[in-house]
Amino acid sequence: MASKVIKGGTVVTADLTYRADVKIEGDVIVEIGPNLSGDEVLDATGCYVMPGGIDPHTHLEMPFMGTYSTDDFESGTRAGLAGGTTMVVDFALPNPEQSLLEAIQRWDNKSTRANCDYSFHMAITWWGEQVFNEMETVVREKGINTFKHFMAYKGALMVDDDEMFASFSRCAELGALPLVHAENGDVVAQLQAKLMAEGNNGPEAHAYSRPAEVEGEATNRAIMIADMAGVPVYIVHTSCEQSHEAIRRAKQNGIRCYGEPLIQHLTLDESEYQSGDWDHSARRVMSPPFRNKKHQDSLWAGLQAGTLQVVATDHCAFTTDQKRYGVGDFTKIPNGTGGLEDRMPMLWTYGVGTGRLTMNEFVAVTSTNIAKILNIYPKKGAVLVGADADLVVWDPAKEKTISATSQQSAIDYNVFEGKPVKGLPRYTLTRGHVAIMDGEIRTQEGHGKFVAREPFTAVNRALSQWKEVMAPRKVQRAGIPASGV
Ligand code: URP
Ligand code: ZN
Ligand code: ZN
Ligand code: ZN
Repeated sequence: MASKVIKGGTVVTADLTYRADVKIEGDVIVEIGPNLSGDEVLDATGCYVMPGGIDPHTHLEMPFMGTYSTDDFESGTRAGLAGGTTMVVDFALPNPEQSLLEAIQRWDNKSTRANCDYSFHMAITWWGEQVFNEMETVVREKGINTFKHFMAYKGALMVDDDEMFASFSRCAELGALPLVHAENGDVVAQLQAKLMAEGNNGPEAHAYSRPAEVEGEATNRAIMIADMAGVPVYIVHTSCEQSHEAIRRAKQNGIRCYGEPLIQHLTLDESEYQSGDWDHSARRVMSPPFRNKKHQDSLWAGLQAGTLQVVATDHCAFTTDQKRYGVGDFTKIPNGTGGLEDRMPMLWTYGVGTGRLTMNEFVAVTSTNIAKILNIYPKKGAVLVGADADLVVWDPAKEKTISATSQQSAIDYNVFEGKPVKGLPRYTLTRGHVAIMDGEIRTQEGHGKFVAREPFTAVNRALSQWKEVMAPRKVQRAGIPASGV
């Protein structure tokens, strides 16, 4: 079998930094050490050899708000690879009353075009006996161990507390992990109606309708409901101090929960919605909205302190024409922004490049932590013999200015337009295939494979055990008095 050697670089993992060559045969890493040779040499002089990024939060070709997000599994994964990301996890969304298994079938059909490996989270968008039963098939037969719950998007994707508690309890039984979009959807709906009635119909009103309090309240509620159900919980797109505070406090109290800030919330702020250009502001409409510096500082601190574990994108890209569905009514602007190509360079530049993160922390929050949470470590998220050769050879000296004109994403703008970045992939390898070769795109449509994930992580098992120890037990009494009348 033909081999490749990544030569002359420094391996950087979540816990180690050392000089070594990395040898690959087929899909996997076969040797790590000094002076390796192989059929093809990839020169990594001056570069860091890191696990490829894993983006656990994407919406490719997602049916949402009357349209479909424009980046599909082909353009989305191509964008990811160009930026050093080698795996995405997308959300399979059943329509109301639709079978979970049918939803997976639809996502299977779309994902055949993926350029890199992928997996799915299953969304719980309605509740009933069928959903309860199918959750078991999803976990045992479909290789999906995560279930997403939307506390927002009232009248569409939103689930109530009773549905959430039932689903979380089912996750506990199946050894799965619930994920939550935490915003109080009832309050958002009322604020939206009030703002519209007052004539506040521009994209800035999207942010006014989703203050940090709606996120903080919902995050706390989700964590408490998960704790009562005896299951860990993962809060997606944690954007504010209120939400981070709920996660931090819960962790201090021994509750198992995870928080996922997005690169957009870390680096873009609420002033984007005050632009005099309607398109500029509408292109940045996403939920939760961008926030102020106080919240951004909180998110960076969370990554440093380890109270927040993962940096994702929530890549859900709509064109300017699609955003214009909401002219005159901000509630109709399709929610979502892109970021797949920019997450790693932006986090490196504004995290490692400023001293807010170490290189090892960078690897942890872009790859290794989520691989462990999703139970795919060390197949993914590692530079180890036997691991998949999903690797990025990172050139810390390579610079560019982000621009829509040179991006892989299919949309007509970029929310990071004009941002300078320093630190970019020299090579990105997806299971041994060099998809990015010094700026040249060599992706192979359909190369990506589905990554199945087993339930019952160590955290699930420990928590179930603890809940069993602490379960309510009936008191055995020698005699019971006759009941009073
Ligand atoms: O605005 C967003 N985040 N759009 C994608 C769907 C979601 O809520 O994650
Ligand atoms: Zn209900
Ligand atoms: Zn969301
Ligand atoms: Zn999302």
